[in-house]
Amino acid sequence: MIELIRKLVEAWGPSGYEHQVRELIRAEVADLADEITVDPLGNLICRVGQGGPKVMIAAHMDEIGVMANYVEPNSGYMRFTNIGGVLATTLLGHRVRFENGVTGVIAAPDMFGAARTTAPDLDEFFIDVSDGSGSNPVQVGSPATFWRTFEQRGTRLISKSMDDRIGCVVAIEAMRRLKKAKKKKSANEIYFVFTVQEEVGLRGAGPAAFGIAPDLAIALDVTATGDTIKNAKMEVKLGGGAAIKVHDSRHVVPPAVVNWMVAQAEADGIPYQKELLTLGSTDAAGIQITRAGVPSGCISIPCRFVHTTSETIDSNDLEACIKLLTGLLSKPAVL
Ligand code: CO
Ligand code: ZN
Repeated sequence: MIELIRKLVEAWGPSGYEHQVRELIRAEVADLADEITVDPLGNLICRVGQGGPKVMIAAHMDEIGVMANYVEPNSGYMRFTNIGGVLATTLLGHRVRFENGVTGVIAAPDMFGAARTTAPDLDEFFIDVSDGSGSNPVQVGSPATFWRTFEQRGTRLISKSMDDRIGCVVAIEAMRRLKKAKKKKSANEIYFVFTVQEEVGLRGAGPAAFGIAPDLAIALDVTATGDTIKNAKMEVKLGGGAAIKVHDSRHVVPPAVVNWMVAQAEADGIPYQKELLTLGSTDAAGIQITRAGVPSGCISIPCRFVHTTSETIDSNDLEACIKLLTGLLSKPAVL
């Protein structure tokens, strides 16, 4: 599984440009799904089973990034706009990669100046894309993602884009285990959806859910933790198990969905914790308000330092999330 994680987190796919990630996942699930389609927005929809309750599983393929929007004359420097929730405090000295392979370095004016005690505003930063040739290797309108390699430290896994490629890994691994269980017939009609454009406002999952018309939906995404120094008042901690969402800034999870997940975790002895997130949301919030409404919940992978290039998860939590999802999908999903 580590090699799958490395492959997906190091892949390139800012919101709206998920094609490379989609092809990697499509190859991974080719033998695991009964039918694979791509909808008009680019969501990759993988059906497993036919008949029974329709369950939609959503994990987003996209990642935050930047887009070059202006060339500084005669400089090799480009200005940029953000794709999704880019934090100014994470930018100085960081590298971005454009689709053509060019690496850019982010800097800001007056980095060591006496007045520089706070992070500059986003629009003060620029990217150095010069290659010494005098011509500019990147065009206005080119998107880029942050770049850093995957690392392991004990059970901790560290990388860019854990948000939300690790959710994609949970979905793929659940597909694999459901297939291995070799039941004659799937208990549910499951749609594993690898969604687009979550980071720019949950834009992909809702339309996918409209097309599928599920009876029930589960998003798989990272959640912040409250275990950093001078922590926020948040219960979730790394290594504490699968996080079962109760509430976030756009989603009140129906108690029946929370109870369904908690009962499964307790029956199977899977470590879990309840998640209440004050900032941010997931595809589940987009799905629940499509059509006439879809009861939706979320299994969250606890993650430190979300939206940095060092998003950190724990492999025991990852395993707990996979087990919980696989258990829930192994029998008819009826609340
Ligand atoms: Co995110
Ligand atoms: Zn996410």
